[in-house]
Amino acid sequence: MSTNSLLSILVCLLLYGFFTKITTAFSIKEATTDDLQLAFQQKHLTSRQLVQFYLKEIRRLNPLLRGFIEVNPDSLYLAHKADQERKANAQGSLHTLHGIPILLRDNIATKDKLNTTTGSFALLGSVVPRDAGVVVRLRKAGAIILGKASMSEWAAFRSTFLPRGFCGRKGQGRNPYVLSAGPCGSSSGSGISVAANMVAVSLGTETDGYILCPSSVNSIVGIKPTVGLTSRSGVVPISPRQDTVGPMCRTVRDAVYVLDAIVGFDHYDDATRAAVKFISEAGYKQFLKPNGLKGKRLGMVRSPFFKFSNDEGSVLTRVFKHHFDTLRQKGAILIDHWEISNIDEILNATGSAINAYLKQLLKSPVRTLADLIAFNKKFSNLEKTKEYGQDLFEAAESLKGADKLLKLVVANLNKLSRNGLEELVRKHKLDALVTPYDLRRSSDISTLLAIGGYPGITVPAGYDNVGVPFGICFGGLKGIEPKLI
Ligand SMILES: *[C@@H]1O[C@H](CO)[C@@H](O)[C@H](O)[C@H]1NC(C)=O
Ligand SMILES: *[C@@H]1O[C@H](CO)[C@@H](O)[C@H](O)[C@H]1NC(C)=O
Repeated sequence: MSTNSLLSILVCLLLYGFFTKITTAFSIKEATTDDLQLAFQQKHLTSRQLVQFYLKEIRRLNPLLRGFIEVNPDSLYLAHKADQERKANAQGSLHTLHGIPILLRDNIATKDKLNTTTGSFALLGSVVPRDAGVVVRLRKAGAIILGKASMSEWAAFRSTFLPRGFCGRKGQGRNPYVLSAGPCGSSSGSGISVAANMVAVSLGTETDGYILCPSSVNSIVGIKPTVGLTSRSGVVPISPRQDTVGPMCRTVRDAVYVLDAIVGFDHYDDATRAAVKFISEAGYKQFLKPNGLKGKRLGMVRSPFFKFSNDEGSVLTRVFKHHFDTLRQKGAILIDHWEISNIDEILNATGSAINAYLKQLLKSPVRTLADLIAFNKKFSNLEKTKEYGQDLFEAAESLKGADKLLKLVVANLNKLSRNGLEELVRKHKLDALVTPYDLRRSSDISTLLAIGGYPGITVPAGYDNVGVPFGICFGGLKGIEPKLI
């Protein structure tokens, strides 16, 4: 046989292997954005088929898991439009998210047929003035808004007694790994739906742990960006100095694609002006480096983040020892046993801007926090939320006019950050902190990151002895997203 014919046989075999892999082994389940784009390109899949698949999965799984509150009635139309655009444009000229369905947490405004209600009946029928800043960017990238995700109602800010992942409009969201374990909150529906393959990518929002916690306990990747990196305009607020919008996806790469699509200045959100200096102009994809850990100094703050209880604790201790060995093998320098001197004080602090959001709505059943409290009292049977009360709303309302007090609180939080994480990181030239993220068994790092507006990322780290997932979290000072990625 000539070299040529041998070569052509080889090429045929290779191609055969390649195509059979795509055609027979390609599954939308667990597919990444890159997998989906490749399938689009090779005409094995259309956006319409993809949306049809997700709609089927939502019909099958959502009655049990309750990750979606609403499905976009226009999603098939939008998918068809994306398919037409793909045909009309040169290959590779469209955004990585073009034609990819995305799920939005229910506090992110969309000016379409979907409601924006933060999980509460009180905002059903409210009319938003425009798309949220991040939604404008997602539509521009060509993403398909597939629906709204359930969440802890009013981001759990309504009451300390509200179960995580519970909202009046959808009831209790469930963790797809262990139904009884709880999905954490407050971006519960985003975590549930991505984990259960009802969608590939989603947005959550974080004030204090609201992206990181549901990402870790649903075994997905969550990026909580530096406050202001992504616009909060059109997002029902809790605390403007802490609120941030970020991706919740199954892989770091998918999360980076979503982050790339949503970062940037928005004249409706002043915080984006201050944060422009932190944005990587050439995007974040360039920081997805296999050897990115080399030479990075990672601080481990043992207390209170590594306090696991007894037998379950020993499983976690073993798992994390393994992860830390891996980090070292990949070239990271782990610096152990640091302490943050004011950590107890930091974990004890909180602050509130719902009134401003309610006021700018074009139409709404409620206009002020006081209206909201009255609504909840009147309709608590409808919402099945009576037993949970609304102590946090009432506490916030009682602070009305207490501007001086609020200023003091904010000044105190700034001071706590300066003397806490900032001091530790500067003094020891750390690139990031690394901690377990397992809210049920140890303190979590989110409050430390929240009060300074600092970024963090959690990635899946393992499962406990009953199969509930937990994460490993990296966090640091403002603008260090490139290093976290
Ligand atoms: C939005 O809420 C209204 C009730 O106010 C409901 O009729 C409509 O179906 C909801 N939209 C979607 C997309 O579910
Ligand atoms: C935490 O806050 C409570 C209530 O404000 C206060 O009584 C307590 O002393 C605080 N604890 C610490 C460690 O700051």
